[in-house]
This record gives sequence, C-alpha cells and structure tokens, in this order.
Amino acid sequence: MVEGIAVSDNGSATLDNLLTENRKFPPSPEFAAQAVAKADKYEEANADRLAYWADQARSVLTWDKDFEETLDFSDAPFAKWFVGGELNAAYNALDRHVERGIGDRVAIYFEGEPGDQETITYAQLTERVKQAANAFESLGVSKGDRVAVYLPMIPEAVITMLACARIGAIHSVVFGGFSADALRSRIDDAEAKLVVTSDGTWRRGKASGLKDAVDAALEKPGHTVENVVVVQRTGQDIKWTDGLDRWWKDVVETASTEHTAVPHDSEHPLFILYTSGTTGKPKGILHTTGGYLTQTAVTHRDTFDIHPESDVYWCTADVGWITGHSYVAYAPLVNGSTQLMYEGTPDTPGRDRWATLVEKYGVTVMYTAPTAIRTMMKWGRELVDAHDLSSIRVLGSVGEPINPEAWMWYRDVFGGNAGVGKRRENPAPIVDTWWQTETGAHMIAPLPGVTATKPGSAQVAVPGITIDVVDDLGNSVENGQGGLLVIRDPWPSMARTIWKDPERFKDTYWSRFDGMYFAGDGAKKDADGDIWLLGRVDDVMNVSGHRLSTTEIESALVSHPSVAEAAVVGAADETTGEAVVAFVILRGEAANSDTIVEELRAHVGKEIGPIAKPRTILVVPELPKTRSGKIVRRLLKEIAEGRVGGDASTLADQSVMQQITDALKK
Ligand code: WTA
Repeated sequence: MVEGIAVSDNGSATLDNLLTENRKFPPSPEFAAQAVAKADKYEEANADRLAYWADQARSVLTWDKDFEETLDFSDAPFAKWFVGGELNAAYNALDRHVERGIGDRVAIYFEGEPGDQETITYAQLTERVKQAANAFESLGVSKGDRVAVYLPMIPEAVITMLACARIGAIHSVVFGGFSADALRSRIDDAEAKLVVTSDGTWRRGKASGLKDAVDAALEKPGHTVENVVVVQRTGQDIKWTDGLDRWWKDVVETASTEHTAVPHDSEHPLFILYTSGTTGKPKGILHTTGGYLTQTAVTHRDTFDIHPESDVYWCTADVGWITGHSYVAYAPLVNGSTQLMYEGTPDTPGRDRWATLVEKYGVTVMYTAPTAIRTMMKWGRELVDAHDLSSIRVLGSVGEPINPEAWMWYRDVFGGNAGVGKRRENPAPIVDTWWQTETGAHMIAPLPGVTATKPGSAQVAVPGITIDVVDDLGNSVENGQGGLLVIRDPWPSMARTIWKDPERFKDTYWSRFDGMYFAGDGAKKDADGDIWLLGRVDDVMNVSGHRLSTTEIESALVSHPSVAEAAVVGAADETTGEAVVAFVILRGEAANSDTIVEELRAHVGKEIGPIAKPRTILVVPELPKTRSGKIVRRLLKEIAEGRVGGDASTLADQSVMQQITDALKK
C-alpha cells in the first residue's frame, strides 16, 4: 500500500470495512430498459475516445461555429478542447430551449426557507438573465472582466452566473459561509470589477447577513470593485455606500429583456472557483466553456438518467461549490430539465424538511452528500418514512466517500419508499459520483441502467474517461490493491489552469507522475477492478464534503497574537466524515485564559469562515516534530481520534507525545 493512505484516510471508508463489502445491486429490467445511457456507451467511448467526445459535444450543445479539432494537448498539461468552436453558454442553457418551443417548461422551482415559492419557466429565466446581462453591461462589465458572486441559494445566483457567461464575463462565486477576509482575498486575486450579493439569507428561521461581509471586505481601500449589486432577500437593515451599492431591483429588474447572446470561443474562460490546496493560499481553478459544458451536460444526463420532459431533479449543493456550478447552474439547464432549488437548512422548520420537499415537488432525482445522509440517519428514518417519496427514481452521492451503512440507509429509506407505509420491490439505484473542482464533472460513477452498484464504491470511470490506481512509481496496481488515483488522459471539463499561476497548476497536479493527472486521493481496486475511494492523501481535509486545507487553518491560528504554534488535523467523525482538530501552543498570558479556545474558534471563523472553525482546539505544551522540524500530523491525528501508541521513533524529542497526553489529561 502507498504510504499516506493510512494517515489521511477518512475513517468511514477504511480498507477493512471495504474488503468485507460484497453486496451488488443490478438495475431492475424496467429501469435498464428505459435508461438514457446503455452499455454501448462504453463501447463507443472505448472504440475512439476523442470521436466519442466530439459526438457528445455536437449532440448536447448548440455551436454557433463548429469546432475543427477535438483536442489540442500539444502544450500539455494545458489543454484545448473543441478547438475553433464558438458558442454561448447562456444561449445553450436558455434561449435555445425557448426557440425549440419548451419555454413554458419549468426551469427552477424555488423554495425559500420560510416557505415562499417561485416557479420560473425557461422563458422567464431567459428574460431575467437577459435583463441581468444588460444591467451588468451598463455597469461597465464586459467580456473577460471578473465578477465576484456572494449570494445564497436563490434564483438570482443562477441568473447572475448565466448573465456573466452570456456576456463573456468570468464569474467567481464565493461560498456565503466564507468570511469577509476570505472574500476580499478572492476579490483581489481575481481583480473583480463587480460584486453581486444580497442583504442576507434565511437560515434556521433568522435573517443572516451577507452584505455586511461585503462591506467589511471592501472597507480597506485598494480593491478593484466598482459596483456592488444587492438583491433584497430578507429585508434586513444594511449599510449603504452611495456611488458603490445598487439594488438589484433598480438596475436589473428595470433593464431591457432583449439581449443577443454573442458566441464565445470554446476555450473562453467561464469561471474561476477557489478551492483549498495543500498550501495556505486557495487556488483559483479556471474552467472554460465548450469542454466544461459538454462533460457536465453529458454526465448529468447519463449518470442521473435524466429525462428532461418528466424529471424533477434536485441537487442540494450550494452554488458556492463546484457541485452547485456544474449540477445546479449549468448542466440541468443545458439539458432543459426541471430542477428544485432550496435556500435553507434541512432542519427548518423541522428535521423532515427535505422529505417534505421531495414529496411536495415530486422530486425524481436527488443528489446530495454522505454527511447529509448520515445526519438524517441520526435523526431517524421515521421522519422520512412519514412522507411519500414514491417519485424518486435515482439517488446520487458526492463529495466524500460514502460508507456502506449510509449507502444502504439511503437506498432503503429514500430509494425504497413507495408511499407512506409502502416499500418498493426495486429501490431506486444509487450513483456515487467521484470528481473534484478541478475535474469539473463526474469522472467515476456507475451508469444507473447498466452498472450493478456496490454500497460504498464509485466503481467505474465515466465513458470516455481513463482512471487508474497506481503505486508510488506510477505503475498500475493489480486488482485487490490500493494506491493513488490518477487520470491518464485529458478530459473535456478539466481545469485549464490555476488563475494567474500556471506553474502551480503543473506542480500540483502534473508533476507527481509523468503525463498523468494526480488527484490527491487514495483509492483501491477491488477484485472486479471497481474503484473505492479512500480519502485524501495530502493535507486537504474533507469536512461535510467541504474541502479545507490544514495549512490554511494553521495560518489562520498563528495569525492570532496568542498563538505561538499550531497544527491542524482532520479526525474521523461519524457525521461529518472528518472534523477539524487543532493543537495549539499558546504564548504568554493566553495560556491562563479560560476563553482562549472560544476566541480562537471565532478568529478562524473571521479569517476563513464558519465552516473552517475547529471542532476541537487542544492546548498543548509541544508539537511532535521530526528532526528536520516537520510536524508529524499522523501522531496528532491518533490523539484526536482517541487512539494511542503510534510509532514515535522519528521524533526529535521522544518525550513530546507523553507531554501532550499529560497536558490533555489535566
Ligand atoms: C472527495 C467535490 C469519495 C475527494 C465534487 C476529492 C469524494 C474531493 C467523492 C474533491 C466521492 C468527492 N467519493 N470522495 N464520491 N467525491 N470526493 O473539489 O477527496 O469540493 O478529491 O469537489 O472530494 O472535492 P471538491
């Protein structure tokens, strides 16, 4: 086994419990018969990968100008897909559906946390995006400019993204759970000209502010922002800066509904999305237009078996993450399907809110994260069983390894429901989808009408994608062995670079092995060659499906005057997969303070955002280090997980572990 996996694997998917998992669930004959993607997809893709992608690109998208070359990888690892082609992303997501006569189809059912609802058809969404495009242009935004988006899960988030795409501006969505400081550093890195935000959002029955974070972010001069457009969502009081702030209702809702989408190059940048890496500074992952839209739309249709005329699809991810980009804002609309968008938390007003939504809107395809499933398991199946979920046809999982127990519960409770008090003979198939911000779209996932699914495994490469598990030297491992996950060939929705840092793009993903993309995940091939994901092998943690960097949180902690040194680890957590546990050495008076731990949690919240706040902060006298001064996180992780006795022989000072355990006993 490759060194590193045991250190960083995600507790919920250890090799041991995976080796004992041998259940298989083939698709029912009825499901297989109606499935969009059949087994011949693999044959077609295997026969000629590039021809397959070229066909897919021409069939799922409308091109203003056809492409001349499918892939140009002559400047590897910087790829160009569908070279010479021209298209408009917003036109593909909107106008063309209206033109082909399905303008009355619902694009988005929106439900706010307080229960307010809005039904938006394709015709209406198209008009609203055209208005936003006109408004942004009137504020001086043009092709290639960057727009920071700091919005909750409301239709305006999707409208803003598509309006940017329409005019060729590059959006950079920043998750609302990030702090003002984190927002500012992203605004600065992208040199955003416009910020689109809202006064706030509804969370657990209360109005929670967003505009205040934008104000705080822009307080210090020296930024590039010329306008802030504010959607009124909660009606809460906000600070107003004349000359900078403008209401959405004044600039967007009064704008013309006429706007012509001009074609952009296939490789025109679509968006930047920042994600955590192994060093402190977040990476601005850059995606472009033609390849990204092709692979997101194809996988959305095939992995979820989308029948656009009848399905009601619901992805619970926030638009602040890649899942919300690919599988909320873009692919469902490019495919002309109907989706549900929900603003709030799963436990407001009650813990059955999600089941209530599925029942109310007749959701047929649901896509969520294992953390959410484990949380609902904890709340109890009765809450779900009390609802009619018979509409469900396909269940998706994303973001972290799903443990077999959670998989089986999801299948049984969500997928096996045939109405209150009734069970199905054939529960809905589960598709576990492995991919990353950098991959843009699904890379490993079953086809629900073809693959016999296995609880806990993402299983097989998507048609047209070449995945492998290799040893330290880059050689393919045998079935039954573990190693590092790599992608052997370029793929359409691959990240094109890291914004303003092409060297880092090469170093991070393409330098570990020659000619292969290194994903940073550990994986194993089982006896059938199916792939099981084992969690990160680097310093990236996965908390509730959110990527957090240990180094970034350590930097935040040491930026506090009371902290001399800090080490952060991800410790296995039953619900969130991993939890952030910090070990800190305090300086001076702080060591005697009762409130320091709370103060440090708040400090991390301010520096990065509430999602990064450590679950536990342990004050220790020393940190275990090697002779070269490297912190041995493996030993800290053992303490954080309540295990003891790891090999401490590489430590410079052998007594450190004892000192730490003694200090924690006090
Ligand atoms: C993890 C989210 C196991 C993995 C789409 C990856 C998964 C990181 C799965 C990317 C899955 C995502 N099974 N692990 N089905 N899906 N991951 O960029 O460690 O937020 O490298 O993209 O999440 O996280 P990101």
